[in-house]
Amino acid sequence: MLSRREAELCAVGCVCGAVITALAPRVRHLFSRRVALKRRELPSSPHELFQRWLREAEARDGVRARALVLATSAPDDGATARYVLPHSFGDPIILGTNIRSQKARQLLVDGRCELVWRDGDRQVRIRGTAIVAGAADARSLQTFANLAPPRRWGVELLDQGRPIDDEAHDALLRRYETEFNPNNLTACPDNFTAVAVTPATIEFFQGGHPAYINDRFLYVRDQADPTTFNLLARLQA
Ligand SMILES: Cc1cc2nc3c(=O)[nH]c(=O)nc-3n(C[C@H](O)[C@H](O)[C@H](O)COP(=O)(O)O)c2cc1C
Repeated sequence: MLSRREAELCAVGCVCGAVITALAPRVRHLFSRRVALKRRELPSSPHELFQRWLREAEARDGVRARALVLATSAPDDGATARYVLPHSFGDPIILGTNIRSQKARQLLVDGRCELVWRDGDRQVRIRGTAIVAGAADARSLQTFANLAPPRRWGVELLDQGRPIDDEAHDALLRRYETEFNPNNLTACPDNFTAVAVTPATIEFFQGGHPAYINDRFLYVRDQADPTTFNLLARLQA
């Protein structure tokens, strides 16, 4: 039988153990990240390096570590940016959105865009051109089919970006609670589209140096063989 004091010490020990276990991967990650990048050690494919960084971030922070900021612009409203969570990180990168959203509208006017990913001191900038596929396109059908059932249901009901008052918003939540049925899902609605971003350049930045003497590398798509990229340069950070 433990005394009250011993029981308290045991409880404190358990809490400390749990905290150390939870923090260990983050602390280890902070130290491992200080390893400087050398040009000769980088893979020839920027996708390989990006996948590696994504895997490391995802192992620590879960799937949301894969979110990127998508920057678009069009003459009417200028530059805008928002997070997206791509469905596929192949070439092109595919994401899903509402076809009447600001991002989709801007990309239909000017497909040039940039995706920016960040994990701690690491940043990846993907500059390229996007195609807004449209609801009937196979890429949209596939992207919609890959959504989890509640998301498919929500995508169909939501009119992304349109103002809504509290009552109508609450009514949508109630409809979800009472009507959503994972066994009764509809096909890809007209308001959904895949956006396919084909990178022209992919830039990797790894910071953390006290004097900003950081690592920055630029890959550029090969003009003659568009299936490959060339590691063009180390840039000053
Ligand atoms: C982590 C995260 C991931 C997101 N992923 C998406 C996405 O994949 N597609 C999307 O349409 N909106 C996504 N959103 C919401 C957008 O950031 C944005 O609010 C919404 O798409 C409207 O943007 P727009 O009006 O500028 O087009 C995400 C938001 C966050 C915070």
